[in-house]
Amino acid sequence: MKKRILITSALPYANGPLHIGHIAGAYLPADIYTRYQKKRGREAIHICGTDEHGVAITIRADKEGKSPREIVDFYHERIKEDFRLMRIEFDNFSRTSLPLHYDTAQEFFLRLYNKGYITQKSVEQYYCPKCKRFLPDRYVEGTCPHCGYDKARGDQCDNCGRWLEPKELINPRCAICGTTPVLKESTHYYLALSKLSEPLEKWLNSKKSYWKPEVIGLALSWIKEGLKDRAITRDLEWGVPVPLEEAKGKVLYVWFDAPIGYISSTKEWAIKKGNPDLWKEWWLDKENTKLVHFIGKDNIVFHAIVWPAMLIGHGDYVLPDNVPANYYLNLEGSKISTSRNWAIWIKDLATLYPADYIRFGLTYFMPETRDSDFTFHDFKERVNNELVNNFGNFVNRTLTFIKKYLNGRVGPLTERGNEDDGEILSLIEKAPSELGELIDNYNFRKGIIYLMTLSDKGNRYFDRMAPWKTRKTDIERTKRTLSVCYALIRTLSVLIEPYLPDSAKRIREMINATDMKWDEAARWAIPQEIEINEPRVLYKKVEEEKIEIGEKDVKSKEKGEKKMAEISFEDFMKLDIKIGKIKSAEKVEGADKLLKLTVDIGEREITLAAGIAQFYNPEDIIGKEIPVLVNLKPRKIRGILSQGMMLAADEDGKPVLLHPEKEVKPGSVVR
Ligand code: MF3
Ligand code: ZN
Repeated sequence: MKKRILITSALPYANGPLHIGHIAGAYLPADIYTRYQKKRGREAIHICGTDEHGVAITIRADKEGKSPREIVDFYHERIKEDFRLMRIEFDNFSRTSLPLHYDTAQEFFLRLYNKGYITQKSVEQYYCPKCKRFLPDRYVEGTCPHCGYDKARGDQCDNCGRWLEPKELINPRCAICGTTPVLKESTHYYLALSKLSEPLEKWLNSKKSYWKPEVIGLALSWIKEGLKDRAITRDLEWGVPVPLEEAKGKVLYVWFDAPIGYISSTKEWAIKKGNPDLWKEWWLDKENTKLVHFIGKDNIVFHAIVWPAMLIGHGDYVLPDNVPANYYLNLEGSKISTSRNWAIWIKDLATLYPADYIRFGLTYFMPETRDSDFTFHDFKERVNNELVNNFGNFVNRTLTFIKKYLNGRVGPLTERGNEDDGEILSLIEKAPSELGELIDNYNFRKGIIYLMTLSDKGNRYFDRMAPWKTRKTDIERTKRTLSVCYALIRTLSVLIEPYLPDSAKRIREMINATDMKWDEAARWAIPQEIEINEPRVLYKKVEEEKIEIGEKDVKSKEKGEKKMAEISFEDFMKLDIKIGKIKSAEKVEGADKLLKLTVDIGEREITLAAGIAQFYNPEDIIGKEIPVLVNLKPRKIRGILSQGMMLAADEDGKPVLLHPEKEVKPGSVVR
């Protein structure tokens, strides 16, 4: 086993608060893993920070009319607060806008450049003639060449998930002003992935036996497709400047500088510890450091391909031992989306429930081996059935019995006793190593289930031994039973700590036990009598009203109380909305949601495809007047050329037609 474990979790973009998907995807597993390793007495640190560069930040700044600096300053603090609410702890939480990070990233760049792994190329790039600027990444939008999605961004298509270059987009437009961009020559620096592909493949092959199959599978399949050199510079003002005289005005691509943040954050940690060279033990000692990156699945390409390639090219640094990526956590059946405001924000959830309830729920629904789904209903069921009725109840009934019937005293317990007792004591002996193995292998869900099974066995033992009966007939037996239960609770208080740190502390206070190391939790003996402290109820059931508040919150988001970008009056005036009269309506063969409408809009008649067939009969709407957006670019929908859009209310996904308060002339303008 390696001496040190260097744990990182993906640096969150400082452009928004955290939601449950972030926590369940990367940060909670990383926190559980780190707490566990430390408890086990291993040398481990958890390193993170905010990712403060890139177009994700500048677009947000443009939208809010703020500077990138204002945005990242604000969200750095906000994100730290979200982590605090979730009890997610770091040995250092840095920022990529620090001078220390700039130096580290520039040094890294120069090393690769001098070794020939970064080369310069002249390329054609989109430039917006109106905004007078180059348009990197998401500054270009257009239609995806693969799936036809018309809001694809220049770096990735949100619909089919593919990687894109701005130049691949059909009908490209400037994301800021909508102008069609032109191509202009610019010089950029490319990471020579093609040269690094061979050593990378060799390295990846050495991971086959123990990485998550999805992660290694994806990485190797990309290698097979052939790695193309990638541009790692951008024409932007916000970012780490490219450290070359001839590259004035260019900055490093965010995905080049961000992972280097793992190193610079470790450097900052060392400085804060008063030993600035300490980071070297963690990053340069390949024999003795185990590097683990916790990430979500959208980051796999960077952590299993690009970043290791950079590290191989650099040569001095440790390579990742593992990249235990999680899948996505969906919300009530749909993908979490920040832009649609379809998310549960940590700050909101934390006003409803204590941290440990949320940590418990999110571990239970952790998307470890496939996408999973968070629903308030299941959250309630899990918390109430497992955390409250099983674990909480076991602790509670044991301690109140000890208080009531044994004057608050248990132990000593030095012999194995009868078969029932022995069974529980054996469980205690095995638990730390069995659970440890699950966590060492990133099986966090199985780990929490393992713990719940232990407490369930405790409850069954309690029921079988019936201390409420024996207390009248055999007080020694009662004392034994409760001592065995006490020993199990003491062990659980240690083993549960990585998952539920607040609960662990509270339990240890109540049972009057000092903190123990992980391996010590295998001991059941109580050498001397112990007096417990006042037992207090550990958990309360999740109530229906709270669930309702949470659900209502989610539902209201669905109804479209989403924040949309502000538009100018001029923007509004671009919409030509008129009243039209429905002349004919018919069903469309093969499209059971659509009606084909002919609508009189005054000077002419137009055809519309409207998605209302499941709610309106054609014969009921003929002759009705409706508002229509008539200057929408015609689109072909299921073979019908739709020349505008009918406007209707959307009630939870159900269309409801709108009519003028009294009949008006077809073609009347709506404003
Ligand atoms: N900011 C990225 C995201 O949220 C993650 C960066 S991870 C790092 O998806 F490796 F680049 F740091
Ligand atoms: Zn523009």
